[in-house]
Amino acid sequence: MDRLAADRFTDMVVNATSSKADPRTRQLIESGIRHLHAFILETGLTLDELVSICGLLVQAGKISSDARNEFLLSANILGLEVLVDMISPNGGPQTAILGPMYQPAAPRLPLGGSIIQGDADGQVTYMEGYVRDASGHPIADATLDVWQAGTDGLYDIQDPAQSGTNLRGLFTTDANGHYAFKCLRPTAYPIPDDGIGGVLLQALHRHPMRPAHLHLIVGAEGKRSIISQLYDRDCPYIDNDSIFAVKDTLVLTFEPATGRADAELYVRYDWTLQDA
Ligand SMILES: [Fe+2]
Repeated sequence: MDRLAADRFTDMVVNATSSKADPRTRQLIESGIRHLHAFILETGLTLDELVSICGLLVQAGKISSDARNEFLLSANILGLEVLVDMISPNGGPQTAILGPMYQPAAPRLPLGGSIIQGDADGQVTYMEGYVRDASGHPIADATLDVWQAGTDGLYDIQDPAQSGTNLRGLFTTDANGHYAFKCLRPTAYPIPDDGIGGVLLQALHRHPMRPAHLHLIVGAEGKRSIISQLYDRDCPYIDNDSIFAVKDTLVLTFEPATGRADAELYVRYDWTLQDA
């Protein structure tokens, strides 16, 4: 192979971009072209392999819907979203990836309310803590948008057996920055592996399991929101997450809720929000 000719060809493709293109779009696509061309040169990609990769993308499109984003799932399997979080100026010890199961319409619930709709199938957990600013002052009216999978490992939007907003809730801190809610002890679950995510995992001989976790977005007026996940220290997958998202700072110990009639387990976690 004539490496010089290949490099000239890559330059030609990159230089085809018009100067009228949006600068950031241009930067992203030009860099993407250079890396993809380098990938082809490095691996000696064949036509059959290129057609096969494009076929996988077609399958990902066909299986995706408003409730399922197979592209984001595949990006997670390859560690892309975690890396984006790592380099983000909004990233930090309390942040984690959003994941594909967020829905913006969680029901607004009172302090101490429960995100469990209907009979609890699992261990009810009372979670509480404080939201503070960088100086340690409490933040009143901070919001916590919470969502989690059921004990069958499925989120409401994946599961016809659950009501539309089961295991989702939006809470607000009181004047002391205190928040509290009831949820289920989270359950480990496999990420959907019946699409190209599953093809990737199988090809790499990897398991699909995510350690048990609870999702949250914590925000307040004039502060940078934190997108996060909190994990159960006792989960067998805590050190072996299929999408590499666990941080030590997000791992919690679920303890017996002594003295509480409304919950079996107790967990506490405080949040620090930086100025926007
Ligand atoms: Fe999740």
